[in-house]
Amino acid sequence: MKPVLWITCKLPEEVVAPLKEWADVRQWPTIEKNMPHMRLQEVIKEATIIWTIMGDQMDRELLASAPNLKLICNLAVGYNNIDLVAAKELGIAVTNTPGVLTDTTADLAFTLMLTTARRIVEASDELRSGQWTYWGVNQLAGMDVFGATLGIIGMGRIGEAVAQRAKGFDMDVIYHNRNRRMEAEEQYGVSYRQLDHLLSEADFIIVLTPLTAETKGLIGSRELALMKSTATIINVARGGIVQEDALYEALLNNDIWAASSDVFEQEPVSVKHPLLTLKNFVATPHIGSATLRTRKKMMEMNIQSMTSFYKGEPIEHRII
Ligand code: GLV
Ligand code: GLV
Repeated sequence: MKPVLWITCKLPEEVVAPLKEWADVRQWPTIEKNMPHMRLQEVIKEATIIWTIMGDQMDRELLASAPNLKLICNLAVGYNNIDLVAAKELGIAVTNTPGVLTDTTADLAFTLMLTTARRIVEASDELRSGQWTYWGVNQLAGMDVFGATLGIIGMGRIGEAVAQRAKGFDMDVIYHNRNRRMEAEEQYGVSYRQLDHLLSEADFIIVLTPLTAETKGLIGSRELALMKSTATIINVARGGIVQEDALYEALLNNDIWAASSDVFEQEPVSVKHPLLTLKNFVATPHIGSATLRTRKKMMEMNIQSMTSFYKGEPIEHRII
């Protein structure tokens, strides 16, 4: 009997078709809507392998209700949606997609920094809505990125890729990380700071740390108050690392200059979210790894994991 492979989102047919040779493939049918948790609670009972996306909350209760489940392949590098402790106890392997999305996500981090600094969204909106009727000396004037001090919170692979880009913009790069990263300091010319020092020194702050119990709510009103009033914070990691209500207040009161975020506590974010009413806030819908080439590589990586599992080989790209 073929193992049941449940795919929780609609993937391209050319990706899915070859899997049918060895798996009983079952797939969520619609692109426009993701699988609700109630449906996940049902399908988990059938699956030997489940191919998940970030929005799938793989908590202990869910995993404990899956009698046949052996492997979770998460189509993301982050895995805060999966209870790893529970998975380990239950003998379920978990894999992710590290490495392949590093540069793509670093590109987005840099894009958001430039976009926010130069007020591109505001400028484009004004032009399209017919407000470009005059030239003003400080009209849409933004902040310089070149030569500024960039603070990276979370110096992993993506942090290094951002630091590398920052060199080309003549930026001074400081970072904060759980552990000091001596090789990164040498290779990218970055220097370590305590979090509070980084917050008060940087002109731009890019948040790249994973969401864990320690990083949840890491940046709140106390931390935002340490930032310069001319500084910008950019979150391309996970919603909830920067506290949204505190960020809203800081932006509203111009305690900081601007912010942008690719990630939200609740995704998809409601269009009624208070942050979206602010001109000095730029939002994108969790598109850090969203290029055609990278998404293809991520799917390929997950397929390598499930194929190695099926063949009885050591599971590739395994977290636990
Ligand atoms: C995207 O957010 C990822 O974790 O891959
Ligand atoms: C700007 O367009 C300039 O010529 O200064």
